[in-house]
Amino acid sequence: MLKRYLLAPGPTPVPPEALLAMAMPIIHHRSPDFLPVLDSAKKGLQWLYQTKNDVLIICSTGTGGMVGTVNNFFSPGDRALVVNGGNFGERWTKICKAYHLGVREMKFDWGYAVKPAEVEEALQRDPSIKGVFVQASETSTGVYHDIRALADIVKKYENTILVVDAISALVAHDLRMDEWGIDVMIGGSQKGLMLPPGLAFIGVSEKAWAFAERATSPKFYFNFRKERESLAKNQTSFTSPVTLIIGLNESLKILQAEGLESAFARHEKLAKATREAVRALGLEMFSKESPSNAVTAIKAPAGIDGQEIYKNLRVKYGITAAGGQGQAKGKIFRIAHLGYAGTFDVITAIAGVEMVLKGLGHPLKLGTGVAAAQELLMVQEEE
Ligand SMILES: Cc1ncc(COP(=O)(O)O)c(C=O)c1O
Repeated sequence: MLKRYLLAPGPTPVPPEALLAMAMPIIHHRSPDFLPVLDSAKKGLQWLYQTKNDVLIICSTGTGGMVGTVNNFFSPGDRALVVNGGNFGERWTKICKAYHLGVREMKFDWGYAVKPAEVEEALQRDPSIKGVFVQASETSTGVYHDIRALADIVKKYENTILVVDAISALVAHDLRMDEWGIDVMIGGSQKGLMLPPGLAFIGVSEKAWAFAERATSPKFYFNFRKERESLAKNQTSFTSPVTLIIGLNESLKILQAEGLESAFARHEKLAKATREAVRALGLEMFSKESPSNAVTAIKAPAGIDGQEIYKNLRVKYGITAAGGQGQAKGKIFRIAHLGYAGTFDVITAIAGVEMVLKGLGHPLKLGTGVAAAQELLMVQEEE
């Protein structure tokens, strides 16, 4: 038997409480049994999103939330400014183009974060831009984009909304929807929320709802105004993914017991310990600045294929981490510390990386990275 460890940036492990709750018999989504379930999920998501506005729940993966966002708030021909410093930035471009938006790409090297001043300049130069599209955590590069700074800029433009793909950032980073002025924020179930894949969440500001009234892109399944009406009645427009929503309530309960600030601090600490270990091992971070709290991207040492590291971790030691995507494939490997993650997930990942690298002929002293992480993760007396 090879014991398995899931340390990928999604799907992430599901806590036993949520697994057990999802093993209960199916209830009917139009029966009175379901109304309090959805009501509780709705309120829990507002807490997590730090918003008084609606957070829609749709049955799709995160990408469905991204597609629905383009359909519901924009029309063919609308101008979009896409922040593209990674695989998921590229996805925004592809979706916007598929729905005939006019895309102005702000493209920069992978591993770097967007410069908010450049977004401001672009908006000044082209006031017809209707939406700024960005990732909070660009999962492919392990970079966090400064959403607060972007929100500060975009809120000055009456005819522009800020659309944030927070699919891998939610729970790992503090994202204050109302206080900062984020207009649309998309999440997914299989990341920080510690659930199986299958749910997307979309937080929507009042400013964005006004855009939805004017948007003419065709839509049917992802009809957010219709979902908003259903949500007001504690329903979803189509058959509700009842099992996942029951699981969602369990995950939210766990997070509420932990507290939002503590959840952010936990992710920050795990990410920091991972980076300390990487440094101690003499490896190079792929993200040159603003590292994400959700996932750490590490350059494969010279002469070693990043995919080999990923493959060896999985095949030899049962650790499913992640390789590189797109142009970073073969050059990097990634370790997540997201969702149901704690001290010994980081220790396991680093120990595995050390054993794999040594096995592949990279010179290192076993335990160097682990010790660096341990120093940071040890519980101090005063904690
Ligand atoms: C930042 C980001 N955006 C979008 C997605 C796509 O989400 P899904 O695979 O759930 O459609 C992911 C998933 O890896 C992601 O990390």
